Amino acid sequence: MTSFSSTFLQFAILQFLLYKLLSCEGPKDPSKGFISLPFNTSFYHIQKPYDVPVDQRYKFVDGVHYLWVFSTDKPHTPTSHTKPRTEIGIQGYDYSSGVWQFEGDFYVPSGTSGVCIMQVFGATAPHATTLMLRVYNGSLFYYTDSVLVPSVCDKWFHLNVVHDVLAAKVKVFIDGCLKIVADGRGGTSHTFKCGVYAQNEDSYRMESRWKDIEILKIRD
Ligand SMILES: *[C@@H]1O[C@H](CO)[C@@H](O)[C@H](O)[C@H]1NC(C)=O
Ligand SMILES: *[C@@H]1O[C@H](CO)[C@@H](O)[C@H](O)[C@H]1NC(C)=O
Repeated sequence: MTSFSSTFLQFAILQFLLYKLLSCEGPKDPSKGFISLPFNTSFYHIQKPYDVPVDQRYKFVDGVHYLWVFSTDKPHTPTSHTKPRTEIGIQGYDYSSGVWQFEGDFYVPSGTSGVCIMQVFGATAPHATTLMLRVYNGSLFYYTDSVLVPSVCDKWFHLNVVHDVLAAKVKVFIDGCLKIVADGRGGTSHTFKCGVYAQNEDSYRMESRWKDIEILKIRD
């Protein structure tokens, strides 16, 4: 075989594998093989602009967490220089090894843009996060890089984020379909967060809603 055709064949095989990986052959249950950990109000706290009461940026009604923030809001602490956020910070489940999973349903009302709605916190500097799921212009992005859901607003989606620390891989599933396998970004301690954390090009009002949040891991 000439080197041209062998290169072409390799390329074709690679394309095929990529297609198999990213195409969804019927929804899977990414939580299979994981154990669900206890989760109640003891396992999270709400971060919100430091100068407003929590009920001005967060409510929990009929099992749904509503989190919103304004681009003009203050950061979550007086000493922080980060952009405004209202986030559910998972606590008590910081991890540095193993395979962990965040599962939940989310809803983003239209008008919300330039915002991170879910993150795997912890990475090697200069990065602070291993994963950010962001909304820009009505689409769900991996950071600003790739579109995971082209039309994400005004609909509920089921999300599974699987972080394998040793393999340094993060998988994102939407409605049971694998959307991306991203590389880890280092770090010694990780935790999950969801809500709204303003990024570049942020809209004046940002909101995301969450329900049925679960934290899972593979038994050591
Ligand atoms: C939350 O769950 C833990 C572990 O099951 C339990 O010890 C704790 O009392 C619960 N807290 C609340 C506020 O329900
Ligand atoms: C969102 O739309 C604006 C205006 O068209 C554009 O400048 C910007 O690059 C878009 N953002 C992303 C992340 O695609």
